[in-house]
Amino acid sequence: MFEIHYHLLFGLDDGPKTMEESLALAEASIAEGVTHIVCTPHSNDKYRFDPQVNRERMGMLQERLKDRLTLGLGCDFHLSYDNIESLQKDPKRYTINGTRYLLVEFPEFGILSNMQDWFYQMTAAGLVPIITHPERNPVLLQDPGRMAEWIRLGCLVQVTAASLVGRFGQRSQAMARSLLKKNWVHFIASDAHSVDGRAPAMKRAYEVLQSEFGQETAERLCITNTRAVYFGEFLPEQPEPEGVYSSLQPPKKSFFRRLFGG
Ligand SMILES: [Fe+2]
Repeated sequence: MFEIHYHLLFGLDDGPKTMEESLALAEASIAEGVTHIVCTPHSNDKYRFDPQVNRERMGMLQERLKDRLTLGLGCDFHLSYDNIESLQKDPKRYTINGTRYLLVEFPEFGILSNMQDWFYQMTAAGLVPIITHPERNPVLLQDPGRMAEWIRLGCLVQVTAASLVGRFGQRSQAMARSLLKKNWVHFIASDAHSVDGRAPAMKRAYEVLQSEFGQETAERLCITNTRAVYFGEFLPEQPEPEGVYSSLQPPKKSFFRRLFGG
């Protein structure tokens, strides 16, 4: 399996504090059958994001892990004005392995009012935003339908493995399931931070997907699509997302247009 959202690098954010903690986390994922992890430290007003430091730290870890696990780099990109401004100057600073794919995280409370425009600009510039864990965002929990217009623009969606198995509560679990049923989910990722608190849960999530949504879905969300992102390839054809395009009905004819035609 491939992990595309993961706080593996030590001493950078609220992930592991030491090299040993990072290694313990890596071991937990190896035991789950993970072969590749994109290390995605936070970039927000709390944690400084420095690609050079990230690269060095990843190199140190890779050296210890040898070829038992392959590491890549990305960013848990917080959607703030400052970050978006910096992204416009240098997108590859934040994208997964320097590809077109970018993880994006909404603030906990309140989504930028012009989010649609930002996503439009990102996709027009060739980026593919991956909306991370909408099932854990209070605003989207209230109104998941908002995501339809973003998916229509070409955004993809990642759900947290632990949400699917109930570790973030019933509401998040129910929303994860409902998004899956509608084919609005493209990836499952652990977003792991530590072996005890926020541990990886890919194996368990894979099993849940397998039994509730079938083998094809489990493989597509945990292996095929995540591998494509890791290597910067196009995703294979995905099942039609329900209610995303069908909601685009032609506008009803107005009284005047009915009267005068056109
Ligand atoms: Fe994260």
